[in-house]
Amino acid sequence: MTHDLTLPSGTPTAEGLAERALRDPHRPRFHFTSPGGWLNDPNGLTHWNGVYHLFYQYNPLAPAHHRIHWGHATSTDLVHWTDEPVALVPGTDGPDRDGCWSGVLVDDGGVPTLVYSGRHGDRELPCMARGSADLRDWTKDRANPVITAPPEGVDTAAFRDHCVWREGGVWRQLVGSGIRGVGGTAFLYESDDLLTWRYVGPLLTGDAARNRGELDWTGTMWECVDLFGIGDGTDVLVFSAWDEGTTHHPLYWTGRYQGDTYTPTALHRLDYGGRYFYAPQSTRDEHGRRIMFGWLQEGRTDEANARAGWCGAMSLPRVVTLGTDGRLHQAPVPELAVLRRERVEVAAGPLTEPYTRLHAVRGDQLDIETTLRLAPGATARLAVRETPDGAERTVVEVFRGHDGVCGTLRLHREASSLDPTVDTEPRYGELPLDDDGRVDLRVLVDHSALEIFANGRPLAARIYPTRPDEAVGVGISVVGDVALERFDAWQMASAFAEGPRPLWP
Ligand code: FRU
Repeated sequence: MTHDLTLPSGTPTAEGLAERALRDPHRPRFHFTSPGGWLNDPNGLTHWNGVYHLFYQYNPLAPAHHRIHWGHATSTDLVHWTDEPVALVPGTDGPDRDGCWSGVLVDDGGVPTLVYSGRHGDRELPCMARGSADLRDWTKDRANPVITAPPEGVDTAAFRDHCVWREGGVWRQLVGSGIRGVGGTAFLYESDDLLTWRYVGPLLTGDAARNRGELDWTGTMWECVDLFGIGDGTDVLVFSAWDEGTTHHPLYWTGRYQGDTYTPTALHRLDYGGRYFYAPQSTRDEHGRRIMFGWLQEGRTDEANARAGWCGAMSLPRVVTLGTDGRLHQAPVPELAVLRRERVEVAAGPLTEPYTRLHAVRGDQLDIETTLRLAPGATARLAVRETPDGAERTVVEVFRGHDGVCGTLRLHREASSLDPTVDTEPRYGELPLDDDGRVDLRVLVDHSALEIFANGRPLAARIYPTRPDEAVGVGISVVGDVALERFDAWQMASAFAEGPRPLWP
C-alpha cells in the first residue's frame, strides 16, 4: 500500500458508496467489511463488559487509503456486527490532520483509552483519546502527541502503531519502527500515566533474524507489533514486516519477554497468505481466549476497488493457541457455527476417482470441514468456486512428502479468475503431519474472501471469478492413496442484513 495523501483521479466519493458496495458480487457476506469506502487494519480490539469492540482503519469518503478515520463496530457473538459512530476523525489541524492511524484500546482505571498514531505530513506520533462509558464518544487529549519525536540519536525509518499494557504498576508501550541499516524494530517505552513516556530502548531488532539465519525477510520496518503471553511461559511477538513496495507479510517470534528484553527462540510465518492477512491485532477476551483479526486486503486494482465502492475485509475472528510443536495454532471462533444452514455430507471412504465433482455442495458462501488421510507421496486437491466448464476454479492442495513427515499446503489461484488484472499468484507453506498423514482441513469461502486452515496453519487470500454466479462448484481430485474420513459442508447465512449500511453512523 502506498501512503499517498492524494486521491487517485476518478475515485468515487461518499455519495452512493454503500449502495454501490451492495451490488458488488465479490463483497463478502459473513466477513466484516466497512459499510462502504476503505478499510484496513483492525484496531482497538477489546471485549468490554461482554461486548466485543472492533475498531478499524476507515475512509468513509472513498475506497482509497486517504485521511484515515477509526470506524467502529460492536458484537456480542463475534459474528453479527452493529455499526457504531465513527470513533476518530482526523483533525482540521494538529498531529492527526492527515489520519488517525493504527492503535489499541486500554482500560485506564475504568476509562476506555485509545492510543493511536496521529499522522501530519509524513510525521507519525502517538496520540491519545478518552472514551465515554459506552465507548461511543471519544475526546482527544490536548497534550497530543504524547511522544513528540522518535528516539533521539536513532536513524528511524518510521514510527507508528502501538501495543500498550500494564505491568508492575506502570504502563508499557511498544511502537513499531525500523532502524536504517539494521532492520525493523519495536521501541519500548514506559509511563505512569499514559501521557509522559520514558524511552527504554529497542525490544528487539530485525537483525536478530539475520543473525540466526532465519529465512523470512523481516522488512525495513515492523508495523502493528503485538506482544502477548500464551501457553505456559511463551511470549509471542507478532509484527507485519514491511518494506516499500516489496514486503508485506505477518510474522511472529516465539520467545521470552523479561525485564526490558525479548529473547527469541524462533521466527515463523503467521499466515501463508502473506499480505492477505496483514496488520493483525489480538486481544484476550473475557473467556480467556486469544482472539485475532487481520486485514484481508484486496487483490484487484485501485480502479476496480473504486468501481466496487468499497474495499478491504476483516478476517474471521480467530482463536489462537500454542500447539504442542511450540507454534501458533489458529482456528475460526466456534461462534461462527450459528451461520451454518443446510449441511451436506459426503460419504467417507477411499477416494478412488482422480476427480469427483461434489454436485450436492455448491455456493459462494460455504464452510467446508473435512478430514483426509494421505499416504506418503499423496496429494489431495479441493476445488472451490469452480465454473461448470472448469475454466475458473480455485484449488486448495495438501501434499504429504515421500518421507511421510513433511507436508505442504498450497493454494492455486492461477485459474481463480480469467480477469488478467487481478492477483492470481499461488501461495504455500509447510503443513505439519503426524505419522498417519491426517489433515484436518477447513475452508471458508465468502465470495472473494477465502480462509483455509490445515492442521491449524492458516492461509488467507482473495479471489475474483469473472462469472461469480456460475463459479459455485466444488470438487475433489487426488493423486496417490487418499482416504476421506469426513466431509461436511454448510451453506453459510449472511451476517449482515440486506440494504445499505450508513457510511457515517
Ligand atoms: C498497516 C498500516 C499501519 C498504519 C496503518 C495506516 O497496514 O500501514 O502501519 O498505522 O496501516 O492506515
